[in-house]
Amino acid sequence: MQKTHTCGELRSSDEGCTVTLAGWVNRRRDHGGVTFVDLRDHTGLVQVVFNPDNSPEAHQDAVPLRIEWVIQVQGVVRKRPAGMENKNLPTGEIEIDVQELVVLNPAKTPPFPINKEEEVDEQTRLRYRYMDLRHERMAKNLVLRHKIVKFIRDYLDQQGFMEIETPILFKTTPEGARDYLVPSRVHPGEFYALPQSPQQLKQLLMVAGMERYFQIARCFRDEDQRGDRQPEFTQLDLEMSFVEREDIMTLTEDLFTNLVKEIVPDKRLLASPWPRLTYQEAMDRFGKDNPDLRFGMELGNISDLAGESGFKVFESVVANGGEVRGLNARGLGDYSRKQIDELVEYVSQFGAKGLAYLAITEEGERRSSFAKFLPPETLQTVIERFEAQAGDLLLFVADQPEIVFESLGRLRVNLADRLELRDPDVLAFSWIIDFPFVVWNEDEKRWDPSHHLFTSPMPEDVSLLDSDPGNARGQQYDMVVNDYEVGGGSIRIHDRNLQEKVFELIGLNPEVAAERFGHMLEAFEFGTPPHGGIAPGIDRLCMVLAGEPNIREVIAFPKNQAARDVMADAPSPVEPKQLRELNLRVVD
Ligand code: AMO
Ligand code: AMP
Repeated sequence: MQKTHTCGELRSSDEGCTVTLAGWVNRRRDHGGVTFVDLRDHTGLVQVVFNPDNSPEAHQDAVPLRIEWVIQVQGVVRKRPAGMENKNLPTGEIEIDVQELVVLNPAKTPPFPINKEEEVDEQTRLRYRYMDLRHERMAKNLVLRHKIVKFIRDYLDQQGFMEIETPILFKTTPEGARDYLVPSRVHPGEFYALPQSPQQLKQLLMVAGMERYFQIARCFRDEDQRGDRQPEFTQLDLEMSFVEREDIMTLTEDLFTNLVKEIVPDKRLLASPWPRLTYQEAMDRFGKDNPDLRFGMELGNISDLAGESGFKVFESVVANGGEVRGLNARGLGDYSRKQIDELVEYVSQFGAKGLAYLAITEEGERRSSFAKFLPPETLQTVIERFEAQAGDLLLFVADQPEIVFESLGRLRVNLADRLELRDPDVLAFSWIIDFPFVVWNEDEKRWDPSHHLFTSPMPEDVSLLDSDPGNARGQQYDMVVNDYEVGGGSIRIHDRNLQEKVFELIGLNPEVAAERFGHMLEAFEFGTPPHGGIAPGIDRLCMVLAGEPNIREVIAFPKNQAARDVMADAPSPVEPKQLRELNLRVVD
């Protein structure tokens, strides 16, 4: 090895040791003829000193050193002179008195500073990702990710799970996104699909009798990018046989509760056991099926009052099958007209046509866009329902339920940020259960699975699949932390007839079903155990545990928001010869 120690590990107890270190020049200072270099590797910094009195040759060799040069030094660990210690650095009590310097590789001036945290344009960071990853914050994120994955592997190993790899070149495994396709050279005109998840394969492993499977699995989905979405991402994919919903939830909860305690002990779990909300309850109370439970500000419904409120906007919405719901933003009663207009603007992005308000100033004075239309008793009931007091701001959206929920659900989070109610040190895990089994797709005029094709309906709701599919519930569960859905899973169908019935319900004709999923249907006839599983997203979990605002910060080489790798410049055109081999032609 070209080093005896890492830069971050030496302490005053190592005083007197001769060490060899190697790393990058983080900073260089010259003081009274002595050269000081902060030497960095991914474990931290250590001060190395080139003193002309102790080693004139090394001091001379250090003259050309510039930031980010890669060097190797040999020297003796010694305590820093009294008063020169750096309390902010774990190695701050010592320094290395260098006897010999070897320049391993000089470096061009970096495209952005590495030795300080500075706002740098993300495209530049991604273009030079290998430099960006030299930042302490990024190195820390990768270490955290490693620890999280290692904890998961160790925990599941102890619980009798086996990690099994499944193919990347496979057939469509739909999870609601578009597939990435890979053309086959040996079978012209035919394509593999990259798995959107290993869903089918893990189920087939249950048919194979594996009973407890997991995989740190790469998934591929061609969908619109967001802060919490990447075209390729990683799941902890897990499946078990002979289980019920409760078993998977208990295991997952225990795994992540222990993981948090061990890996991020400074974070506080808001509630243990994790609260469980039905889908309907989550929507009614928070407007979202991934509710942030770190704060209250729950939604209230005034549709019953609004229908005859005398306020035309409310009345006509209710008459057309819509709803009026609202929330109480405590503490914002003194918001100006301009500030309220900002909120109106915010909800308009989600389709809300307006945001009716009732503000009560600290002095108790009321301002409202609609109160004057309401009979006094109705207004009083509204006020009581939201427990409105001086200093409160009530906000209402009247529309079709999807728009009401979407806009109020988002507004609630936006307001919580304004009020600083989202404590970054708190982790509020929860389970959302009892989802509708299917949702109506108005564009395509058909039912879509609300989770995926293989999720089982609740046993008591199977008969509803014929009579009233919209009211059937699925045996699925989502794992939520703070404002994110971090995992989803379900108990699966393991019976061919029921699986075919579900294909039929969602409008998959039997030939297409047989062509795409014939192998699954066939397997179900060879003795399939009841089974179920879950897949928490590793990137999202790491993002939340690292306190980062998007998953790109916890992925070594992410794509940008246009799904492009700007470092290697991928995707990119290919040679005509390659296209010919694949029997493909680019049509422009
Ligand atoms: P689902 O589609 O709900 O379930 O995905 C599970 C989890 O994967 C993460 N995730 C993503 N992370 C980053 N970028 C993406 N584009 C992305 N899409 C999903 C989320 C999500 O909660 N096969 C089922 C699981 C099962 O039923 O066992 C599945 O994939 O954290
Ligand atoms: P208007 O009669 O359009 O001037 O609206 C009067 C008030 O009702 C304004 O504060 C609007 O923001 C509000 N408003 C209009 N449409 C809606 C709606 N769909 N939901 C909630 N408030 C609305």
